[in-house]
Amino acid sequence: PPDISLTNVKAHLTQLQSIATANGGNRAHGRPGYLASANYVKNLLDGAGFTTTLQSFSYNGATGYNVIADWPGGDPNDILMVGAHLDSVTAGPGINDNGSGSAAILETALEVSRQSLAPSKHLRFAWWGAEELGLRGSQYYVNNLPSTERSKIKGYLNFDMVGSPNPGYFIYDGDNSDGVGSGPGPAGSAQLEATLAAYFASIGVPTRGTDFDGRSDYGPFIAVGIPAGGTFTGAEGIKSSTQASLWGGTAGAAFDSCYHRSCDTTSNVNDTALNRNADAIAYAVWTIATATPPV
Ligand code: PHE
Ligand code: ZN
Ligand code: ZN
Ligand code: ZN
Repeated sequence: PPDISLTNVKAHLTQLQSIATANGGNRAHGRPGYLASANYVKNLLDGAGFTTTLQSFSYNGATGYNVIADWPGGDPNDILMVGAHLDSVTAGPGINDNGSGSAAILETALEVSRQSLAPSKHLRFAWWGAEELGLRGSQYYVNNLPSTERSKIKGYLNFDMVGSPNPGYFIYDGDNSDGVGSGPGPAGSAQLEATLAAYFASIGVPTRGTDFDGRSDYGPFIAVGIPAGGTFTGAEGIKSSTQASLWGGTAGAAFDSCYHRSCDTTSNVNDTALNRNADAIAYAVWTIATATPPV
């Protein structure tokens, strides 16, 4: 698997910050900064050879958009999806939440193109709209998938907040081995969790499970039985002293003290966490999508 360029990931964050600044300070559903963000992502993917769709939906009297990008080739009946929400709250530019996941999966997709990857699985990337209003874009996508198409999606990887300034290294507890969340996810979620965990183990970074309860865009996928996984570096929760011993950083402070605030800018990102998570995404995509025989 490739080493994803932190410089490139951060360049996408700089662009998303500029888009917010030019559009009233946010990239929220129904605001011009959202569509500009979607166009930024779509244009890069079009130029890299992806087959892209801007899927529109209506919510709260405004049009929302999902960007869906298919990498040509692979088994059309064996699809791995990778997604992140691209919208921010209205309060700020949403750079950690969720420019970070959006930029990390974008750079992974662009690396797929640079390497002319020919995976055994079909790869599909997604940038969701209106997550902040209740997972609206991902729910719309899943609701509108014919059951024949739904059954081809063998796994979904989600990345929401992967550069928190006081980071933890969390993996959705798909097998419920950490006993957090609402129980094990669909069969297959455990393997996605294990693959992400294997990356962090390989670089000597300890991880912990986190709630697999549907508080991000994997929710609509697991609700229909699609295995899912993903990583997270923490939101409004407070880092414990045990967690600070494990990962460094500040005990007694939030993982992201700018969560849903105007200060969620390009200054609100921990480069080490962002770099490790981007590399974990690429590791999981390469490992799962290129496995022979397919898993
Ligand atoms: N979905 C939450 C948000 O965007 C953040 C979050 C992600 C919380 C993953 C828990 C787990 O605000
Ligand atoms: Zn989020
Ligand atoms: Zn949020
Ligand atoms: Zn687990």
